[in-house]
Amino acid sequence: MTKMFNQDIVSSFENKETPFYYYDLSLLKNTLKQCAEAANPYKFHVHFALKSNFNQQILTIIKENGFGADCVSGGEIKKAVQVGFNAAQIVFAGVGKSDTEINYALDQNIFSFNVESVQELEVINELAAAKGKTAKVAIRINPNVDAHTHHYITTGLDENKFGINSWDLPLVAETLKKCAHLSFIGIHFHVGSQIMDMNVFKSLCIKVNEMQLWFEERGMPVKVLNVGGGLGVDYQNPDKNPIPDFKAYFKIFNDFLTVKPHQEVHFELGRALVAQCSSLISKVLYIKNGIKKNFVILDAGMTELMRPALYQAFHKIENLSKLESESQISYDVVGPICESSDCFGKEVALPETKRGDLIALRTTGAYGEVMASAYNLRPDIRHVFSEELS
Ligand code: LLP
Repeated sequence: MTKMFNQDIVSSFENKETPFYYYDLSLLKNTLKQCAEAANPYKFHVHFALKSNFNQQILTIIKENGFGADCVSGGEIKKAVQVGFNAAQIVFAGVGKSDTEINYALDQNIFSFNVESVQELEVINELAAAKGKTAKVAIRINPNVDAHTHHYITTGLDENKFGINSWDLPLVAETLKKCAHLSFIGIHFHVGSQIMDMNVFKSLCIKVNEMQLWFEERGMPVKVLNVGGGLGVDYQNPDKNPIPDFKAYFKIFNDFLTVKPHQEVHFELGRALVAQCSSLISKVLYIKNGIKKNFVILDAGMTELMRPALYQAFHKIENLSKLESESQISYDVVGPICESSDCFGKEVALPETKRGDLIALRTTGAYGEVMASAYNLRPDIRHVFSEELS
């Protein structure tokens, strides 16, 4: 088991201003390599979900490794184009695409709009007509598959706002036939995020098979099967399982998805590609010993890493200044923000911790830096890449 942190790395952090996101670029590259090696035998296309991380250097590495881009806003498409992703590998999803965003995407000739409502189809058709263009569209269908994850991050249930419900599909087919400036290329799904139970993806495959049949029976060939993202990572044991089991994941789709020779299978992975390659590094400002609790007060807070406050998400906490220490004391690890929810962990067992110790919050590469805010007028987020360490 290779650990992310050793004494040399920790020593090179000593003179750096905290808090910062540390990125282990060799772990990122290995993760991308393993993902590509697992997907390539099946000719699967993998797009990286920019919403999970849009750090310039990270995106550049992902692009160089041949991944496409999954975007949810005009800003993300702009970023993907600027980093050099090929427009033919950019997909655009989102329930609320504005006219400006649609026009921008049309100008870029992106691969596909993943459309989430009948009204959106009509708007894209109108805007494409005004430009004398044809927009390629995939229909995002709400699969009503339960991903068994935190209710804030499930997306594929009837009660969620995402995608088009199956009972609206006749209207979709009718609308597509009327819209001369739309070219129907396929169907799109996304069941949720941080999915560890592979049976969820099996259920998704069964749903996709049903749905593609529905379209093909109506004389509408489905070229693209986009099954979204959602593969989870091991937040509890980041050093033991730094790279998700991509082989097992893609095998499920190979085994259970009906793919005809004219079809392409597309994925939109975010978390699985980037979560483990980063840790948020912070310094202990104060130790407060109460009657009932001991608090470790960090210089990083929910403004740098929002996930614990927003979803009660678990991020492993390590005292990097006491790597060898065996003693364990129970602490509540909190940030400096004026909110009670600004807490990274309750009753966390750590070695005896002192002011000035370096603390790592692990597995922060996905939905970490991108969700940072300036609340309390906090400074801009900093980052350090493994390759810059001396
Ligand atoms: N495709 C679509 C349409 C999505 O909505 C998402 C994520 C993805 C792909 C990428 O999913 P991933 O492979 O990363 O699971 N902020 C939350 C996660 C929100 C996920 C939103 N959609 C978190 O911090 O856990």
